[in-house]
Amino acid sequence: MTITFTEPNQQDVWENRYQGRKTGWDRGQSSPAIGHWFPSISPPPARILVPACGCGHEVVTLCEQGYVVTAIDFAPSAIETLNTKLHQKGLRADVIQADLLAWEPTQAFDIVYEQTALCALEPALWHNYADRLYQWLTAEGILLGLFMQTDREGGPPWHCAIESLKEVFPATRWHWPSQQDQRITHPSGFNELALVLKRRRSAR
Ligand SMILES: C[S@@+](CC[C@H](N)C(=O)[O-])C[C@H]1O[C@@H](n2cnc3c(N)ncnc32)[C@H](O)[C@@H]1O
Repeated sequence: MTITFTEPNQQDVWENRYQGRKTGWDRGQSSPAIGHWFPSISPPPARILVPACGCGHEVVTLCEQGYVVTAIDFAPSAIETLNTKLHQKGLRADVIQADLLAWEPTQAFDIVYEQTALCALEPALWHNYADRLYQWLTAEGILLGLFMQTDREGGPPWHCAIESLKEVFPATRWHWPSQQDQRITHPSGFNELALVLKRRRSAR
């Protein structure tokens, strides 16, 4: 007898987490990183992409500040929650239900606000995702990253070791900051490494 194990559909897995309220990553409010980085990093109305936006607390705050925001997630419940919040506040954002590894934008972004999206993906997918981030940004766009630090095997959240980040976001494509130790606490009990990576106009 042959038993075939099929990979669980990741969209279903994440959707079930939302439906089962197993959303330990959700702060219930915007990350303190928003107040730290905006608006000084780039004033409104810059175009910002929030990949794997979840319930999108940061999307709401960025819209309130006057940014032009596109938000993506493949979990229908997360998208519905975000759309409801935006509607209640009379705000507008381009909210898209799509797989980050298949979606293509029609216009480049000035900023990508990457909050715990990489750590939600299997490490085998990281190069593909990082290539996409590079393509999605304007020539001198900025990647604001909050990369989960778990210091353990397995995931999600997968541990985003600085060595792995340097491999998927190589210095040939990204200007790295000299300071690489800024941490933000996270409701999961882990913390996030906060990095500002500036896209190089052309890869060396
Ligand atoms: C850890 S949660 C983070 C959500 C949000 N950034 C936050 O900090 O609250 C990861 C999110 O990634 C989404 N996700 C995972 N893989 C995805 C993919 N391939 N395409 C789109 N969304 C994805 C999940 O649905 C989930 O909302």
